[in-house]
Amino acid sequence: MCGIIGYTGNENSVPILVEGLRALEYRGYDSAGISVQEDKIITVKTKGRLDDLAKKLEEHTDLSSGCGIGHTRWATHGEPSDRNSHPHRGKHLSMVHNGIIENYAEIADMLKKIGYVLESETDTEIAAKLIDSFYDECHDPLKAIFSATEIIRGSYAFAIIFEDIPHKIYAIRKDNPLIVASSENGGFIASDIPAILKYTRTYFRIDENVVAELDGANIDFYSSSRNKIAQPIETVDWDIEQAQKGGFPHFMVKEINDEPSAVRKTVSAYQQDDLPHFGIEKIDSDFICKFKSINIIACGTAMHAGLVGKYVIEKFARVPVNVDVASEFRYRDPILSSDDLVILVSQSGETADTLAALRLSKEAGAYTLAIVNVVGSSIAREADSVIYTLAGPEISVASTKAYSVQCAVVYMFALRLALARNKISVEQARKLCVSLQTSVPDAITNVIKFGSKIRSVSKKYINAEHIFFIGRGVDSYLGTEGSLKLKEISYIHCEAYAAGELKHGTISLISEGTPVVAITTQSNVCEKTISGIREVKARGAVVLSICTRSIAEEYNIPCDDMIVIPDTEIDDIDNVLDPFACATALQLLAYHVSELKGLDVDKPRNLAKSVTVE
Ligand code: AGP
Repeated sequence: MCGIIGYTGNENSVPILVEGLRALEYRGYDSAGISVQEDKIITVKTKGRLDDLAKKLEEHTDLSSGCGIGHTRWATHGEPSDRNSHPHRGKHLSMVHNGIIENYAEIADMLKKIGYVLESETDTEIAAKLIDSFYDECHDPLKAIFSATEIIRGSYAFAIIFEDIPHKIYAIRKDNPLIVASSENGGFIASDIPAILKYTRTYFRIDENVVAELDGANIDFYSSSRNKIAQPIETVDWDIEQAQKGGFPHFMVKEINDEPSAVRKTVSAYQQDDLPHFGIEKIDSDFICKFKSINIIACGTAMHAGLVGKYVIEKFARVPVNVDVASEFRYRDPILSSDDLVILVSQSGETADTLAALRLSKEAGAYTLAIVNVVGSSIAREADSVIYTLAGPEISVASTKAYSVQCAVVYMFALRLALARNKISVEQARKLCVSLQTSVPDAITNVIKFGSKIRSVSKKYINAEHIFFIGRGVDSYLGTEGSLKLKEISYIHCEAYAAGELKHGTISLISEGTPVVAITTQSNVCEKTISGIREVKARGAVVLSICTRSIAEEYNIPCDDMIVIPDTEIDDIDNVLDPFACATALQLLAYHVSELKGLDVDKPRNLAKSVTVE
């Protein structure tokens, strides 16, 4: 959510800042701006896309400066407008911010009393002017920043330039990501790695409450007592090609195509002798048997992977699993103790609500395990243990390959727990583990190969106003994810229901021509779902069935269209691996509806890749 970039060095910062913001576009934004140091600070900002900013910058062709900061804003306080766009000014400084200042109203009152006039509706401007007011007194940037952050409540990543300190950028963060890096070109700050990857593969992730001071390529870090401290250096283990489209028209479809290798890589990394093994002492020992219940906490798609986790952990390990939306969990006074395992699932590792749920769980004494994609992210660092999903960078706002690998990890975890609790034989666990590395990626590849069939079915849906998804058991969880995926990028109203719930209300919405997507991958409940299909068909629904080949052959599914996915059966355990290929089919359905409608597939309106505000 929102992108921050900063550059100080020998080159002109203007194109570097704009290019850096482009690399962060995937995070989602509604306005953009930069401030650069010439004799004084010059700010150019606008509501809209980076192209609008580039156009505005054409009026400033003489703008050339070795030091500047840039921002793409995702509005939380005040509508997207030129005025509310970042950077925001104080008398002495210009600042960009990612996050939310919770006590902005009381700080605003304080500032007004000492003569400050506010120009925007943002919480950010208030933080900028607060730092400015301290700087006005002491002319010491470190002192001014730390004095302000003592007062500020909320979450932030700040990047600041001071008018009378021409070559330096200052940065500090709390509960929001910010990295700094240097190369022979100069020093950089950024919200995320893609913005700096062109210049260097090594970077520092700034610890909370530490100020980074960049003077060209020279970077110093200061603790709140204003002593210089060291920060660990980290290295990016993926390359720029992996963060680019690789010939595909959109990141989303490129990332769907990454799924077979991502699942294979993730499962292979967490097995030994074809049995689950995470290389984490507590998870690989009988320690995991001590938990009486498991809570899986996450948001959006990651939460839907958690639902699949509930299905598979309860099925194999027979431990009760509660799945909760992080934003609800944190405020519902959850009952937790040291007998509980809390699993946090997150692609970005920075989702504000999931991070808060993690902290709350730790305080309550629960053991926390994070399943995270971004190495070194806040959730990864704060959890008691972390299992990384090896999806590589996921750029499209709609999460696809991250979901597949999150599901792969929860399967492996379920098998590990089931073995520890003697609920599964070693032989069965090994079969499943091998299939997760072989048949599952093959089945996903198969679905991707039939992408053109899914595209032609998708054409029927581009003018739909409402689409319903139904299924039972794990199929209803897949429907929930299919529905979220489709609505977020196609702007069609979609809802998912457990098929048995239809007649308790929703069926009144079904009329002539209402599209219904019916998922049947599970033979034990497919007859029940088929009854649901008959009920909606009897009321005029147009049904798209997504089912496995064996179910398509055995049952006469009453439908108008059918997407058949390959079976991923293993001898005596029916259908348990089929959700993977089915999820890919649902992702492709969403993708094609969106691209056929000509929408901005990778950057849907109002959404951000990483939701770092509450
Ligand atoms: C997925 O398509 C979403 N845009 C969104 O629901 C996402 O999964 C959610 O915001 C959680 O993000 P995280 O995995 O980075 O925590």
